[in-house]
Amino acid sequence: MLSPKIQDALNAQINAEFWSAYLYLSMAMHFKAEGLEGVSNWFYVQFQEEQDHARIFMNYVNQRGGRVVLAPIAEVPTSWESPLAAFKATLEHENKVTALINNLYALATAENDYATCDRLKWFITEQVEEEDNDRTLIDKFTLVGDNGMGLYMLDQELASRAYTTPSPLAANE
Ligand code: FEO
Repeated sequence: MLSPKIQDALNAQINAEFWSAYLYLSMAMHFKAEGLEGVSNWFYVQFQEEQDHARIFMNYVNQRGGRVVLAPIAEVPTSWESPLAAFKATLEHENKVTALINNLYALATAENDYATCDRLKWFITEQVEEEDNDRTLIDKFTLVGDNGMGLYMLDQELASRAYTTPSPLAANE
């Protein structure tokens, strides 16, 4: 059974994951309108992955006999001056998510909730990968700068990103 404190913290994280999903969907729509189909695709896949993150937490709360409580999702930005600006904003956001996960882990440790610590380990690993992906893309977009051909090639590269569920833990249970 989850303690009320841990349940509240997990519900707050579910909301944060849906906010992330909404942010990346907003980026996908912005770059679609800008004609950068590959960049839009990359963010759309990210939108799908963030919903899976929320799903993993929701499954976990249910498995522990808790109650998922969905709160309103706050407003997200709607435009970015370039893909580079969007990927910089993404890294900044993911750094904040990493801090949230770390805080959750510290709370679960203080509450002797080792099952929650165990589930959070998946997210700790996932955050390392997400931050690394964002840094790589920041490097690539910095490298091409304002070069139209470079931007076109990079957009083509991002068009190949395909969605696959990041974990069986995200199944609709
Ligand atoms: Fe759910 Fe991008 O972390």
